[in-house]
Amino acid sequence: MFDFDGVIDRRGTQSLKWDKYGDKDILPLWVADTDFQAAPAILEALHQRIDHGVFGYSRPSPRLIKLILERMHSLYGWQVEADWLLFMPGVVPGLNFACKAWCRPESSIISPTPVYYPFLNAPGYNERRISHLPMQLVADRWLPDFERLEQLAVDADLLLLCNPHNPGGTVFTRAELERIADIAERHEVTVCSDEIHCDLLLDKDARHIPFASLSAAAAQRSAVLMAPSKTFNIAGLCCSFAIIPNPTLRHKLQQSMRGLMADNNLLGFIAAEAAYAEGEEWLAAQLEYLRDNRDLLMRELGSLPGVKIAHIEATYLAWIDVSGLQLANPIASFEAGGVGLSPGAQFGDGNFIRLNFGCSRELLTEAIRRMKRVILARTND
Ligand SMILES: Cc1ncc(COP(=O)(O)O)c(C=O)c1O
Repeated sequence: MFDFDGVIDRRGTQSLKWDKYGDKDILPLWVADTDFQAAPAILEALHQRIDHGVFGYSRPSPRLIKLILERMHSLYGWQVEADWLLFMPGVVPGLNFACKAWCRPESSIISPTPVYYPFLNAPGYNERRISHLPMQLVADRWLPDFERLEQLAVDADLLLLCNPHNPGGTVFTRAELERIADIAERHEVTVCSDEIHCDLLLDKDARHIPFASLSAAAAQRSAVLMAPSKTFNIAGLCCSFAIIPNPTLRHKLQQSMRGLMADNNLLGFIAAEAAYAEGEEWLAAQLEYLRDNRDLLMRELGSLPGVKIAHIEATYLAWIDVSGLQLANPIASFEAGGVGLSPGAQFGDGNFIRLNFGCSRELLTEAIRRMKRVILARTND
């Protein structure tokens, strides 16, 4: 019913992902957007709005707000109030403002490491100290070192959480989140939970749990950041939102944003509304496709000598340990072999590369073929 196999040429369309390599024969599997066309319902809603032809300042429609509240209730049994919502053009600005608003200058911010790199930059950009919380492999899943978290929390005001985790792909269980919430509660740490990948659950038994929905206490010391951007491939339309039940935290964040945070884009609101109203079937089909892409990648690359990939529960990103290949510069080697990947060092661990498998099967198959050539040339040396 929906065509994820169709290859849409994104070259020369101001795509960050595709324009990086220009005319070079390098398949871009780096930055986290997919190559899929948005759901027909989204395209239809955008067309209609474009035809209206007036693009003045705008605000979210009451229907979009209602759809978000209903979504939180139907997916998570979480009763969110409209007042708790703050719209913003991106999750990353939200993370940065959170660093300023919810951490005193003399305190520190805990960030899992490795993690999506803006987490690592945000504390420093906002003149706060960062405390690195190591992520560890436990039974093939990337988890934070809970004992270390307990130590770091003594001296921290804020924890940045990434759930599902980018780049590890973990969907944290209720027990894991409760452990984090318990530590945060005892040490009075605010939790800013980036849940932008929450709809991209590949394992059929994985369940996303918004951090602030855990308990009344967790709600009072946390914020959840979400967006339709990754789920529906509309990141360029810049629409995201924070859910902040605690009025004091909300007020402090709003104060920190005054005069600095840009308004949302009208077309982002329109696309978000169509996505949440009519995008579910498309999303289910996309998840099937991404699941098959993940399985293909694991089958083809996961068992090669010198390469390790833990199980990916969510996201369309693979975090690949290539330390066994002993490449001086893994990114340069794979680029020379015709595949563009994200350097693990950017996320906090240079032994890894990150691969985005949100693309057509045909492109992924070719990228895997090229990567295998680089890997096997190395291991047959
Ligand atoms: C965990 C995470 N947060 C935020 C973002 C980007 O958010 P935005 O484009 O809304 O700033 C990404 C994009 O890859 C991400 O993986």
